[in-house]
Amino acid sequence: MGKSRMLLKRDIKEKKELVNIEMDRYLPRKDEYPKQIHKAIRHTLFAGGKRLRPYLMIHTYLLFSRTVEKILPIAGALEMLHTYTLIHDDLPDIDNDEYRRGKKACHVIYGSDIALLAGDSLLVYAIESINSAEIDEKLKLQLVREFCEETGHRGLIAGQIVDIASEGKKISEKDLKYIHTNKTGKLINLAIRFGCLLGKASEADMENMKVFGDKLGLAFQIMDDILDIEGDLATLGKSVGKDENSQKATYPAFAGLEESSEKAERLISGARERLEKYGEKAIYLDLLAEFIITRKY
Ligand code: IPE
Ligand code: IPE
Ligand code: MG
Ligand code: MG
Ligand code: MG
Repeated sequence: MGKSRMLLKRDIKEKKELVNIEMDRYLPRKDEYPKQIHKAIRHTLFAGGKRLRPYLMIHTYLLFSRTVEKILPIAGALEMLHTYTLIHDDLPDIDNDEYRRGKKACHVIYGSDIALLAGDSLLVYAIESINSAEIDEKLKLQLVREFCEETGHRGLIAGQIVDIASEGKKISEKDLKYIHTNKTGKLINLAIRFGCLLGKASEADMENMKVFGDKLGLAFQIMDDILDIEGDLATLGKSVGKDENSQKATYPAFAGLEESSEKAERLISGARERLEKYGEKAIYLDLLAEFIITRKY
């Protein structure tokens, strides 16, 4: 492993622990009544996961500010929201996936009823967690408002809806981009936006980082589509070949593997250019951007 990759790995681990401790402290113990729900929540939340969205938020924040303690409940909220979307995404009525984060999916162990409610709970906890942060009240309201806008029926959920509705259909590149931007890109951009808002970035920096996020988010989902073809269950921690089976609208299905990889690479190059103005401060974001297209999990 190259030196820079090791640096990134160590830093991801460090930030992941901070976020895990925060979420663990916030959530009920797994034996708290009614047990099934708390066990189910923890099953998927602490199964692993790259903690990429908290990581993006923390490092965007660090471009403009210092000391991350106060923003950890918000980083945790992004991960709770993300985990809720994964639990629901795996349900038999959505993607019908049996594995998640190297373990059996939540519904396989606890049943669809509990998995559905575990997802609901994580969504509510996420908002509670933002609310619990000790930050300026006006800013907090803005975060909650943007959180709802980006992850609700005009954002992430809209992407999931069109993703399901497009199964088995030939769709345009524009529609494919709509799916990816909404189901995945919006949460990734929200993490970056939160980092900017909490770090009190200038308007120019917010705009610059929005372009970074747009490119990174799209490249991330294209890579996810590629890994569904080229990856393996043991490394990826989730089943492969499922997009083709379900005739999902993906970039490889639309443009082929080679063109999809090239597109992801182009997007990441463009994203990394946006970091140049921050110099050394952006080292981890830059390494992360590179990791997005070289990752195997
Ligand atoms: C998987 O996200 C779902 C997508 C939006 C493609 P991640 O690849 O970030 O999953 P975890 O959190 O590491 O499990
Ligand atoms: C998931 O996209 C997006 C959300 C959960 C919002 P995918 O369906 O491609 O994610 P995986 O491959 O199951 O992780
Ligand atoms: Mg899906
Ligand atoms: Mg899925
Ligand atoms: Mg996928």
